[in-house]
Amino acid sequence: MWKSLAAAATLAFAIVSPTVVVAQQAPASQKSVPEQLVDAFNAVFGVHPGARANHAKGVILEGTFTPSASAASVSKAAHLQKQKNPIPVTVRFSDGSGSPTVPDTNEMPRGMAVKFALADGSKTDLVVLSFNGFPVATAEEFRDFLLAISASGPDAPKPTAFDKFLSSHPTAKAFVEAPKPPPVSYATLTYFGINAFKFTNAKGVATFGRYQLRPVAGEQFLTKEQVSKMGPDYLLDEIGDRVRRGPIKFKLMLQVAEQGDKIDDPSIAWPDTRKKVELGTIMITTATKESHTADKLLFLPGAVLPGIEAADPMIAARSAAYPISFVRRLKPQ
Ligand code: HEM
Repeated sequence: MWKSLAAAATLAFAIVSPTVVVAQQAPASQKSVPEQLVDAFNAVFGVHPGARANHAKGVILEGTFTPSASAASVSKAAHLQKQKNPIPVTVRFSDGSGSPTVPDTNEMPRGMAVKFALADGSKTDLVVLSFNGFPVATAEEFRDFLLAISASGPDAPKPTAFDKFLSSHPTAKAFVEAPKPPPVSYATLTYFGINAFKFTNAKGVATFGRYQLRPVAGEQFLTKEQVSKMGPDYLLDEIGDRVRRGPIKFKLMLQVAEQGDKIDDPSIAWPDTRKKVELGTIMITTATKESHTADKLLFLPGAVLPGIEAADPMIAARSAAYPISFVRRLKPQ
């Protein structure tokens, strides 16, 4: 879905069989928007037993989160307060595609998902992407974006449905055409929350913001020549080797909205000059032997703790769509 340049549809059709479409339980018109979205992913990428509808290929690691002293100033959420011990986290890095065999050399945003397991048994998640901004503003528009891709295979007459979608949606066109070079590592990308949340501190003061996860190793990308020499699983292999050599660190930052910044439109990135508050450090220490495509984890963008609330309506649509994909992938084949 995320292929750069207007070849998005061609890539999707090249890496999956375009003929596989989900079994329909109800006519499309009676389905909820989140269900229509999961169907639309399946129409673009096909259905792959055990795999997520999107971000199907990934790698799971473990580590810890330690909040910064400044974190409690924005939110009273339990994981952002001073801790006795670092909080255990599970991290999944992924490729932004519904194909479990997509080559890691693809030019699509990568994903990072983090599950924090607090000492009292509560859990909270972060689900972020290596691109600052979404192609469209709403879940409904995103469904139409995916449906346009699925209707625009190599044999579709020109202009394709996707060509037409892009010409009437300049932000989606800019997103598709923006370079997304393959990174040296999943650990050398900045990941962006894209959707805004509301943070409330112990004094009741509210702040609107978007997460950023900044790699302590710095951003590093491959040259075209280096990419041509990489194997299809180079990112999976690299991250395993890297974590065996030493911990991988990310700084969790909050980009704070200013008056006039759109809270409910994830297609508009806020200026980089916005104030950022350091929330803490994620330290990834251990590789796991979890499946790269068929693990049983579910990360939910809306799984937040008191002191944090979804502020962008897309978060609710995402949080409804992910369990639909989860239930489908867990169904015995
Ligand atoms: C309406 C918009 C969106 C829809 C419908 C959607 C849908 C999905 C679905 C169905 C999955 C598979 C879930 C599973 O089987 O567990 C998924 C995974 C994922 N999405 Fe989204 N998504 C949307 C927007 C976003 C945005 C804005 C981001 C980042 C800011 C994002 C990042 C990810 C990541 C990182 C994963 C992989 C999570 C994992 O490793 O389990 N998505 N998405």
